[in-house]
Amino acid sequence: MKSTGKVTGIVSNLVTVLTDGPVSQNEICYIDCGGTRLMAEVIKVNGKNAAVQVFESTRGLKNGDKVEFEDRMLEASLGPGLLSSCYDGLQNDLTTMTGVFLKRGEYTEPLDHSRLWDFTPIAAPGDKVTAADWLGEVREGWLPHKIMVPFSFKGEYTVKSVVPAGQYNIDTTVAVLTNEEGEDVDVTMTQKWPVKVAIKAYREKPRPSRIMETGVRVIDTLNPIAEGGTGFIPGPFGCGKTVLQHAIAKQGDAEVIVMAACGERANEVVEIFTEFPELIDPHTGRHLMERTTIICNTSNMPVAAREASVYTAMTICEYYRAMGLKVLLLADSTSRWAQALREMSNRMEELPGADAFPVDLSAIISSFYARAGMVVLNNGKTGSVTFIGTVSPAGGNLKEPVTESTKKAARCFYALEQNRADKKRYPAVNPIDSYSKYLEYPEIEEYLSEKVTPGWVGMVEKTKNIIRKGREAQEQINILGDDGVPMTYHEQFWKSELVDFIILQQDAFDPVDSVTPMDRQEYMLKLVLDICDRNFDFEDFEECRRFFNEAINLLRQMNYSEFRSGNFNKYQEQLNNLISNGK
Ligand SMILES: Nc1ncnc2c1ncn2[C@@H]1O[C@H](COP(=O)(O)OP(=O)(O)O)[C@@H](O)[C@H]1O
Ligand SMILES: [Mg+2]
Repeated sequence: MKSTGKVTGIVSNLVTVLTDGPVSQNEICYIDCGGTRLMAEVIKVNGKNAAVQVFESTRGLKNGDKVEFEDRMLEASLGPGLLSSCYDGLQNDLTTMTGVFLKRGEYTEPLDHSRLWDFTPIAAPGDKVTAADWLGEVREGWLPHKIMVPFSFKGEYTVKSVVPAGQYNIDTTVAVLTNEEGEDVDVTMTQKWPVKVAIKAYREKPRPSRIMETGVRVIDTLNPIAEGGTGFIPGPFGCGKTVLQHAIAKQGDAEVIVMAACGERANEVVEIFTEFPELIDPHTGRHLMERTTIICNTSNMPVAAREASVYTAMTICEYYRAMGLKVLLLADSTSRWAQALREMSNRMEELPGADAFPVDLSAIISSFYARAGMVVLNNGKTGSVTFIGTVSPAGGNLKEPVTESTKKAARCFYALEQNRADKKRYPAVNPIDSYSKYLEYPEIEEYLSEKVTPGWVGMVEKTKNIIRKGREAQEQINILGDDGVPMTYHEQFWKSELVDFIILQQDAFDPVDSVTPMDRQEYMLKLVLDICDRNFDFEDFEECRRFFNEAINLLRQMNYSEFRSGNFNKYQEQLNNLISNGK
């Protein structure tokens, strides 16, 4: 039963509606604004009154305007063709827009209904299947895209028929299933799913036990993120959040990438829209866009759509995970999403929490992060969604509610520091405050011992200690002066500078330095630790400084040279000479 209603009040894009029948929380409705249909979502119901947030400008809307409820929640359309698409938060297709943004009240089809896909059956008549089981496969770019039993199907079905291999569009009935009551249901290559409800298409969700390599040393070496793990990058404006996320997108060991851009400013969204399609995938040499979906908010959409965009993005990720793929979700920046929640909550005059954010902000963020993860599918195969979000705390204050709530939800913390960015020490990740809780998992420690080298986590701890001690030594030197501290302080300080320049700093724009595979990260860390393990007995701090400057210089040249190439070996030899002469 679809209800209708009439507008009774308007505060910006929060609209109150008097309804004539039941409406439910998160139900979608359309408001007729002088012939333009505005899409909105129910965010509060109280008797016959519903509060709805409109996804567009409410300019010209009046009391008495008609509202039609849809009896469904905000949904994503899922099917082949999602990859290489660029959508807004409501999954309007922006690729066909050629840069011209949609008019108010215009909604487009997310998937191409006429395009033909090469279908190959997987299931056969007589097979017993349940929701999310694989019925067939099409090639989407170079990825196998599984056609699944719709996630909404309850109970067991028997496959009655599957079409033979051939070319079909997404609306073709590719399989007929018989339910437990003996009724036949048609399955096409597309299905819908409410974005705010997690897709639970798996048997179990074990704790992550593998690392997702990113080629970024501050992440992989110092604070690795697990495949199916969660992390976040807080940092003030201009500290390198977007550059770091793009590096992870390009280099991360994932098959499908979903970028949710809730831009800081309108031109940033335009940037991602124009720059991302240009990126080349280092794994295949093809356009990265072939295995990427971008969700970005257009500048003419109110904040409400930003909330929708992160959910739509996560739903697309869960859909690909159900195909047994490794998916990476990047959201930049989740602060804008939290601000949308704040605006609505304030307009509804709810009792505010800290900094006027809704009281349940923490719970909302946590349940969103909890949708990431590694899963074991019904057929025993695994799939994963790894999620990394950025947070842009006002004034770089890491004690503000969005950062604090996200800290509770995400297991990796990559804090970008203004101070490091000012000194051009990129990526400006603070090595002391940042952490990865995955390093505490015994199964991850074991994995790293096997995959990288025995005792790797111990070496990582040792490296962090060198940085910590170096900071202490630096403080003492600053207070007491170069001559006022023992030589060991100088040595400690310079050892931490060595770690900083060689392991932490990485040029995202250099073709060699930007991507460091794990074997190379291991090699470089061992080299650096070998130097840090030595006691040099320098005559004076000038000699100490000269030695480390030279060592840093040579190791940096190595970072910029192809691994184990002639050049690399040449610098290595010079380094060996320096060390043996050094003492
Ligand atoms: N790893 C890096 N290597 C070199 N330059 C970097 C790196 N990270 C950031 N930068 C510099 O910092 C600038 C701002 O980074 P950006 O990611 O746009 O910041 P944010 O998203 O935090 O506002 C970049 O344009 C670039 O010049
Ligand atoms: Mg940015």
